[in-house]
Amino acid sequence: MEVLGIDIGGSGMKAALVDTTSGEWLTERFRIDTPHPAKLPAMLDALAEVSEHFKWQGPVGCGFPGVIREQTILTAANLHKSLIGIKLGEEISKLFGQSAWLINDADAAGLAEVRFGLAKERPGVALFLTIGTGIGTALFTDGKLVPNSELGHMLMKIGKDKYCEAEHYAADSARQRDDLKWSQWAERFDEFLHDIYALMQPDEIIIGGGVAKKGHKFMDEIDPPCPLLLATLQNRAGIIGAALAAAEHHS
Ligand code: BGC
Repeated sequence: MEVLGIDIGGSGMKAALVDTTSGEWLTERFRIDTPHPAKLPAMLDALAEVSEHFKWQGPVGCGFPGVIREQTILTAANLHKSLIGIKLGEEISKLFGQSAWLINDADAAGLAEVRFGLAKERPGVALFLTIGTGIGTALFTDGKLVPNSELGHMLMKIGKDKYCEAEHYAADSARQRDDLKWSQWAERFDEFLHDIYALMQPDEIIIGGGVAKKGHKFMDEIDPPCPLLLATLQNRAGIIGAALAAAEHHS
């Protein structure tokens, strides 16, 4: 099936037409900035630009950086809080005049990696991470998604009596905000990996998102608690996974 996949991130909205059987992109990627403040009218204007660009007549899948339950946004840590409670899938459906499906962005990226990437058909518990503006997590047992894990919001102890949300400490945005060298960021990321490993005991951890293509800058600095792999689909995964989820829910 051909589906338009959209990946809404903290800084950009990215979209491409996807062949959901092969996972291949059928068009170039189209990217526009995510509006800030990301209130609904501004978000819909940006999505209208995506619609105008593709003039797509078919199903649409959209990844969103927050908890999604029954197609409704329940959290929006890095976007405007007024989006909470919005059925964004329905809004997209009205805008595009097509059926649309909404899914958490990390869950989408993880689905793509499990179907087409290096996590394909691997048994056991895999924890997939997307590291960008926030930290997204997607948990899989024998290739099946356990939706809406939000380990990026786990509290980490980062000093005596000092705690911090993991994504404020170890996301790529924290590296940029604190002007860290890759080796300094790797130290924080390593702490994060050990903390989530202690709680979840995954068989392997897969790193996706923007930092996956920078592996050569930090992988050697990490002493991972379990096998640690770099996602092969990198930042294509979010778009492919959103399309996959829509194809699975399209009747
Ligand atoms: C959100 C997650 C999302 C992650 C990556 C976090 O702030 O709570 O739902 O997957 O950012 O975008």
